Amino acid sequence: MSTTPKLRLDGVTKKFPIRGQKTDLTAVEDITLDLAAGEFLVLVGPSGCGKSTLLDLLGGLSTPTSGQILLDGKPITGPGLDRGIVFQQYALLPWRSARRNIEFGLEAKGVPRAERRERAEHYLELVGLAGFADRYPHELSGGMKQRVAIARSLAFDPEVLLMDEPFAALDAQTRESLQDELLRIWERTGKTILFITHGIDEAIYLGQRVAVLTSRPGRVKTVVDIDIDRTAEDIRSGAEFRALRHRIWSLLHDEVERARTLELADISTTEEVQHV
Ligand SMILES: Nc1ncnc2c1ncn2[C@@H]1O[C@H](COP(=O)(O)OP(=O)(O)OP(=O)(O)O)[C@@H](O)[C@H]1O
Ligand SMILES: [Mg+2]
Repeated sequence: MSTTPKLRLDGVTKKFPIRGQKTDLTAVEDITLDLAAGEFLVLVGPSGCGKSTLLDLLGGLSTPTSGQILLDGKPITGPGLDRGIVFQQYALLPWRSARRNIEFGLEAKGVPRAERRERAEHYLELVGLAGFADRYPHELSGGMKQRVAIARSLAFDPEVLLMDEPFAALDAQTRESLQDELLRIWERTGKTILFITHGIDEAIYLGQRVAVLTSRPGRVKTVVDIDIDRTAEDIRSGAEFRALRHRIWSLLHDEVERARTLELADISTTEEVQHV
């Protein structure tokens, strides 16, 4: 049996040059994490700590300043259909209907027309949008757009799903039902999932492990194993869940404070602040 992790982040650092400043901004620093095949790992961290930056790196949309990212032991060199990404902001093609947005990745894969249609219908139904196939993105609510984006990423059946706060814009009920749906899909398909969120409850509910990041530059502060009885009736109210919530809350609390201080420092040193 192979012990190669599905996904390996090995000392990943990403820096950005900032206009008018001599020193680069370090968004993430020395991130080392392994995801086993079929694992569900959640990254949780304060706003601006580099979560989306990390997702872009994993998606192959940008390259690390140092360190490397390996998929099945091979360095990621660019975007690929082996990874499905759900971006933080709806990335739908505005000129395509919901159905045709979902079919997009399938076209790239060369899936025949009839099967594309069938799969699109199936995933639209899965995310609760059965009657919305012919709507265009501007005719959908924010939450609906995000559900189309999730359906699209699932439809082309990638081995790895990378999800950047996909449920953040949804109302609580829709969010919880999509969390359950995602867990069902994960159990059924054995996909490797890296899920990013601000939400502590969401992280505990979904993850087998939760990696807590520091405020910028984002580093792995702690990785918490989530060992709870998932068959319990109301998991979120159980003692184990509450203990984990408190633990992760405490880990994040200091980081959120630090992030606020950093943000204030950023604003006061930015020359381009617009006064209106
Ligand atoms: N292309 C870029 N050029 C310069 N700086 C960038 C760039 N992309 C991101 N940054 C900076 O890197 C830091 C991390 O940004 P990122 O979007 O990864 O944070 P995040 O953790 O996803 O935040 P949020 O939770 O608010 O989505 C921020 O300070 C941001 O301003
Ligand atoms: Mg982000």
